Order: sequence, then structure tokens, then C-alpha cells
Amino acid sequence: MPSILLIVTGSIAAPKALDLCKILLKEGYNIEVILTHGAKEFVSEEMFEALAITNIFSNIFDAKMEEKIGHIELSRKSDLVLTYPASANFIAKIANGLADDLASTAILASNKKIFIAPAMNVEMWHNKIVKDNIVKIENRNIDVINPESGLLACGEIGEGRLKEPQDMYQIIENYFNLRYKLVNKNILITAGGTREKIDPVRYIGNFSSGKQGLAIAKKFREYGANVTLIAANINLHIPKNIKTLTCESAEQMSDLVHDQCKELKYDIAIFSAAVADYKVAEIAAQKIKKKQHDKLTLTLVKNPDILANISKVLYKPKVLIGFAAESENLEQNAKEKLVKKNCDYIVANNIATHEIFASDENNILFINKKESHSFAGTKERIAEFIIKNIFKVI
Ligand code: C5P
Repeated sequence: MPSILLIVTGSIAAPKALDLCKILLKEGYNIEVILTHGAKEFVSEEMFEALAITNIFSNIFDAKMEEKIGHIELSRKSDLVLTYPASANFIAKIANGLADDLASTAILASNKKIFIAPAMNVEMWHNKIVKDNIVKIENRNIDVINPESGLLACGEIGEGRLKEPQDMYQIIENYFNLRYKLVNKNILITAGGTREKIDPVRYIGNFSSGKQGLAIAKKFREYGANVTLIAANINLHIPKNIKTLTCESAEQMSDLVHDQCKELKYDIAIFSAAVADYKVAEIAAQKIKKKQHDKLTLTLVKNPDILANISKVLYKPKVLIGFAAESENLEQNAKEKLVKKNCDYIVANNIATHEIFASDENNILFINKKESHSFAGTKERIAEFIIKNIFKVI
């Protein structure tokens, strides 16, 4: 069963962590607990010991703990790091990279999925500083489990109530269920923008940065899938745990996709790359000189449609997902593409109303033959949304 590192911080909602532990232990999860200094105002180590949790830590300089595992291993051993409840102070520390106690150090040192469940007064929750900190931690790929609305411990009514233990448990369970489905699955992703050579120094390209495709690749890795990324001209840091094959042109990308699919049965392929529909019929061997031409006409010929072609071969991945950047009639054009390219889903972007290329944000319509869902947010959130929705229908 998975291991959870549970961090409890100073909030009047801290006793709910005990109820959550009871549920998780009953379901067979392993739990280790870190109590911050503030948490100890509301709960004690003995209360967790009484639930038969043996590993409870609170002090970064605790000899007992360092002897056993050391503060870095603590976050490495677990499959998930959950802060429940998270105070405004703790969120501020995480947002700004502070590491002045065991809990914040463990989060900073973690290479695992992190959930943070805030609990605080309604005015604090809506305070601009807290909101900015929440955005910061979300951008660091931490999942914020939004608080509920209701009667707060201070007597005020509004948003700020910690997610109830049973609901929190369900979120954890959903996360591990998805992980269970995805672990060791083979995922192929194309990303970036292809370049078609005109002569030795020039090319026809597009504005795609590869950010969305890379976000999807990272998210699949986070869930334990094997990811192959076919990257066209991506100028971003790609983590080493993503197998990456680079290419420049559509033709090269097409060859790589076919080679990969022949070699390995992919479970899901996501074609997020912006592929040039045309290439130059004849690439000039020498740099084209302007003194030779008053007017220059390039003859373009069609590139292979990688997605449409792969959907027709025997070695095609089990699930195919295409992208569609449209400047008008988004849903209708996306639906046509779904049929024409014979894929299972289309992720459609409206490029007329949204600045998408190279942006950290995105706005999509996710469609299959039966339904369509829209979603807006950071490219990481979009990646999460896509992954969760693929599995709803498979
Ligand atoms: O036809 P259009 O370019 O709008 O289709 C977009 C989708 O098709 C994307 O998923 C893109 O990666 C894929 N595509 C492709 N090969 C092409 C053109 C587009 O795989 N030559």
C-alpha cells in the first residue's frame, strides 16, 4: 500500500488530521507524520501514537529522527506528501522556499506529489497575499485542495474550512487509482513546432514552444507512466526521466513516430506538436541571395499528416489524441478533425481569443464523439485535466 507523509501545521482544524489518519490506516495506507511547532498547540505526538502510528517527527534536529532516516529520506520514502491542514503561514513559507523547520524542509526536498489542504479564516483565505502564495505553489506543481465554505472555528461564515477527512481521503484515493492505472503505461507525446528548411540558414516554422506537450509529458511521469517525448525544436529544460528524441522537420518527426510505434505498443499517444502542413519542394543547397531575385516564389508540397497516418496502421497506439489550434468555429472544426484524423480525442485551442503560444496558460475544449468539456488554467492544470478525462472514458 502507498505511503503518505502527513504534515500537520498550526490550525484549529489540526484534530481533523487524526480522523483522516483513522480512515487511511483502516484502508491500509502507511503514514508518517510531521507536526510543526504550531500544530503542537492543537494536537500532540501521543494522539498520533494512540492510532498506532510509530513514525512521528517534529524537530529538524531530532537525533531520533536523523538516526532513523534523515530529513531528506523522509520525503523520498513516501509516495505522497500531504499537508493537512496547511496554515497561511506554512503556505507562505512554501511559496517562498523557506526551510526553517522539518516540515518545510521535507517539502522543499521532496520529489513526490505534494497536496496542500489550506484551512484558515475567510478573510485570510481571500487576502491577496495568500491568494498570490497559492498561485505560486500551484505553479510549482503542488495540488491545492481548496477549502470548503461554511461555519469557521472563529464563528465567521465563509470559505476557509478544511476539506473534511472523508472527502480528503477520496481525493487521495482518486490520485492513487489514477497512478495505479498509469504506472508503467507507455505514452508517446509529440511536442514543439517543426521547421521546414528553405536553404542552409532559413526555415518555415511556427510559434509553438512545446510547453503544453512537455507539461503533459511531466504529468504522465508523475503518475508513473513511461514517457517518450518526440521534441521538435523545444528550448525548455526536459527532465532526464522522460525519454526524449529530437527532430527538426515534420518528415523526421513522422519517421520517429512510426519507428517508435513499431518498436513498442503505446497505450496512449498525444500529438501536441504544431506540425508544418507543407514543406519546401526543393531545399536550396546554397543560401538564397537577394541580389538574384526581385521576387521569390517558394513551391511548397504537403507534409505527411502524422496523426492521420498513424491512425491507419496496425501498430497504432491504443488511444490517439490530437490537438487543433483554430481561429474560428472551434467546436465544429475540432469535431471534423476528430473524424478526419480518426482519433479518440481532440484538444482544441481557440487561438483567436487567447494568447496561447509560449504562454503558461491555456484554454481548451476537450472533445470526443460523445461529449465536450472546456477547461482553462496553467498548462500543468490542463495536463492534469486531460489525463483525468482520458481515463474517465477508457
Ligand atoms: O490539421 P491540423 O494541423 O490542424 O491538425 C492538428 C493535429 O494533427 C495535431 O495533433 C498535430 O500534431 C497533428 N498533425 C500531424 N501531422 C501534420 C499536421 C498535424 O500529426 N502534418
